[in-house]
Amino acid sequence: MKNIYLIGFMGSGKSSVGRCLSVTLNCNYVDTDAAVEAKYNKTIATIFSEEGESAFRSYESVELREIPYNNCVVSTGGGIIKNHNNVEQMKDTGIIVYLATSFEKIDNRLKTDLSRPLWNQNKQKQKQLFEERLDLYRSCADITVLTDDKSLDDIVAEVRSYIVSE
Ligand code: S3P
Repeated sequence: MKNIYLIGFMGSGKSSVGRCLSVTLNCNYVDTDAAVEAKYNKTIATIFSEEGESAFRSYESVELREIPYNNCVVSTGGGIIKNHNNVEQMKDTGIIVYLATSFEKIDNRLKTDLSRPLWNQNKQKQKQLFEERLDLYRSCADITVLTDDKSLDDIVAEVRSYIVSE
């Protein structure tokens, strides 16, 4: 099986869906954020504050390139698609699945979240980032799954149905 890359905004459920999907498909699971944190033994928030976003972006790109090309479900960080080479890498080695979640749902889920430096800003900036990212997610997705009002099991089943019919 080619890799399955889950993309989408922060809080769209990439990690929960990815873990569950990998169990359903009986394949490996990689979370690029978790891989960066484990390698550098720092939280993402600490990497951002001590080294800046650009350092995080280069660590993230390295992790992406270290993933085997087959049999992995990969949950990516919400900004991985900012780098065109990352998008190319994902396209070359797998299928890109966009988990599309509304701003309202995300806002509700991440209300008390302080672990994401790019979310930890005022509502206007959050909304602006969300809008800016939409076109990027849409333009690189092979498959889009709308997640609002769907359960985790429903989302996993929907992704799976697309994958098996490929
Ligand atoms: C980011 C999303 C985060 C993490 C970092 C930057 C982004 O991942 O990679 O804080 O730029 O959207 P999640 O999408 O898993 O929250």
